[in-house]
Amino acid sequence: MVDIFSKKFLEGLEYETPFFVFSKKALRERYKEFKKYFPDSSIYYAMKADAEKGVLETLFEVGSGFEAASLYELKLLKELHVPPDRILYGTSVKPTSHIKEFHDYGVNRFAFDSFPELEKIASIAPKARVYVRVSVNDAGSIYRFSEKFGTVHENIVPLLVRARELGLEHYGISFHVGSQASNPEAWKNAVSSLHPVLKHLHELGLKIEILNIGGGYPCMYASTDEEITLKEVAKSVAAECKKLPYQPHLVLEPGRAMVADSAVLVTSVIARVERIEHTWLFLDAGVYNGLFESLAYQGSIRYHVTAVRPSYDAGEATFALAGPTGDSWDVVSREAQLPQDIAVGDKLVFHSVGAYNLVMVGRFNGFPKPAVYFV
Ligand SMILES: Cc1ncc(COP(=O)(O)O)c(C=O)c1O
Repeated sequence: MVDIFSKKFLEGLEYETPFFVFSKKALRERYKEFKKYFPDSSIYYAMKADAEKGVLETLFEVGSGFEAASLYELKLLKELHVPPDRILYGTSVKPTSHIKEFHDYGVNRFAFDSFPELEKIASIAPKARVYVRVSVNDAGSIYRFSEKFGTVHENIVPLLVRARELGLEHYGISFHVGSQASNPEAWKNAVSSLHPVLKHLHELGLKIEILNIGGGYPCMYASTDEEITLKEVAKSVAAECKKLPYQPHLVLEPGRAMVADSAVLVTSVIARVERIEHTWLFLDAGVYNGLFESLAYQGSIRYHVTAVRPSYDAGEATFALAGPTGDSWDVVSREAQLPQDIAVGDKLVFHSVGAYNLVMVGRFNGFPKPAVYFV
């Protein structure tokens, strides 16, 4: 578990729960870590993971670029005066009005993964630089993208040839190995699968400028079996890239791994209820208002959770944790280890919750978005 705040600091926070606290220092350090292990790459933070102003500002200040997925995200970047050359429009299927908004702002790098999308980009953003998203093996990742996004390898060359015919620049290739990946070799294997494609493109005189290896870098949640370090991913990717016919510039789009460990969520116990199988603690935050990724979909995330107060002599017990709404999906864990005598009013801290939670808050049962603080 990554402990970004001391227990004493958390104990001293007297805000009304539920609330998030982000550490700007942790964010800066994480960005530096990405730069350390991928020194010759460009980093574009995938802002879909969390788009709080404090997160964007902090990453902008340390030099990050941004991968944006809609004109709504672009609007947030414009408010911070992020220049267009630090922005990628990374969703491979896009509404025309959004492409226009990016083009008007001066963003000229767009992902795509089909012929119709290419025609669409060419008609709205002539001369744009386009990179083709390819579907790669994402087995073992908690959230998989290969069904919905990415073309097959055989289409890469025809798509980039067509891009040039349309007056666009054949800028590069991208892939995403799936979010919260569990195979440390997933990126390396994806690079390796592109070797013959790069060779073919080279023979046709179509050298690409970038290879975008996407996101997917995992975090050490309570539900994560084995740690995958950036160091090992970087090492295997670098070795594989050396084998390519030439070395395109590396681009990374980390979302989760950039921001997850920089925030905690503080919640209060609103009820303690005995049911047949579990003792339930109902909290003032749940999957709809702060812990969305606990919701089981392709997989789900379980967070490290600790009590703000000590366990005294009572020892610990296993609890099921539920959010405050009337929905049966609103269950955060069935295996939280917490002080046995935990009671209504006690505060719990969920760790590493910075990614894909605040951006997913809904208004189910009317519960509002938790407050967000930065230190
Ligand atoms: C195009 C693109 N880039 C980057 C990311 C970030 O992925 P992760 O949060 O797993 O690092 C995503 C996630 O959905 C994505 O769709």
